Amino acid sequence: MEPVIRFADVSKVYPLRAGDVTALSHVSFEVERGEFIAIMGPSGSGKSTLLNLMGCLDTPTSGDIFISGIRIQDMTDDELTDLRRDRIGFIFQYFNLFPLLNIIENVNFPQMMKAGEVVDETKAVEVLKSVHLEESLHTHTPLELSGGQQQRVAIARALINDPDILLCDEPTGNLDTKTGASIMNLMTELNKRGSTIIIVTHDPTIAAYTQRTIRIVDGRIA
Ligand SMILES: Nc1ncnc2c1ncn2[C@@H]1O[C@H](COP(=O)(O)OP(=O)(O)OP(=O)(O)O)[C@@H](O)[C@H]1O
Ligand SMILES: [Mg+2]
Repeated sequence: MEPVIRFADVSKVYPLRAGDVTALSHVSFEVERGEFIAIMGPSGSGKSTLLNLMGCLDTPTSGDIFISGIRIQDMTDDELTDLRRDRIGFIFQYFNLFPLLNIIENVNFPQMMKAGEVVDETKAVEVLKSVHLEESLHTHTPLELSGGQQQRVAIARALINDPDILLCDEPTGNLDTKTGASIMNLMTELNKRGSTIIIVTHDPTIAAYTQRTIRIVDGRIA
């Protein structure tokens, strides 16, 4: 079986007026279906750049990236948009919810982008249940929720299109230790149900929930 993600000699250089910044240098690795991986490394080492490339939010300067065996540089913009929307879920440190939409609407947002119209709420309710968010909160807006509850909503939104890859950039970075642990227990549960999960973290106690750690230093795998 093809690895779900494969990087072959991938480099990413940001050309800046003050000089080029090499964010990633000749990175090669594979992620198998169902893996639960931590990416660790110092600030500025290239972790977010790596995650953005895995999520097809950005393209490499050189090297090849394959998602389930298909080289992303060979895909059209429309194919990449479909891939990001249908197969990849993103979870960020600052939740990135829409403050004016209620919880159900936030979770349904990717579905609305897909259907382009009003969508059935059943799936959103089901996904919110799977991340253990109380039903009484569904009609609230994000700022009426705690940080941990907001991150559960963001996870539900990432899950609404049944992605097979979940990419998380410091998902517990804004949460206290206890809430962070409950989010990691949820991630473990999702991984057991079949999601491939990649999580960027500075925190060794968060990395300890995963099956293996990829370490990056100065844009290289250590
Ligand atoms: N859009 C960009 N334009 C120019 N340089 C960038 C850009 N994004 C990242 N960089 C640079 O690339 C390098 C890697 O950045 P990246 O954000 O991947 O690091 P990180 O490991 O996620 O750091 P942190 O732990 O602080 O989030 C840094 O030197 C950064 O300044
Ligand atoms: Mg980062």
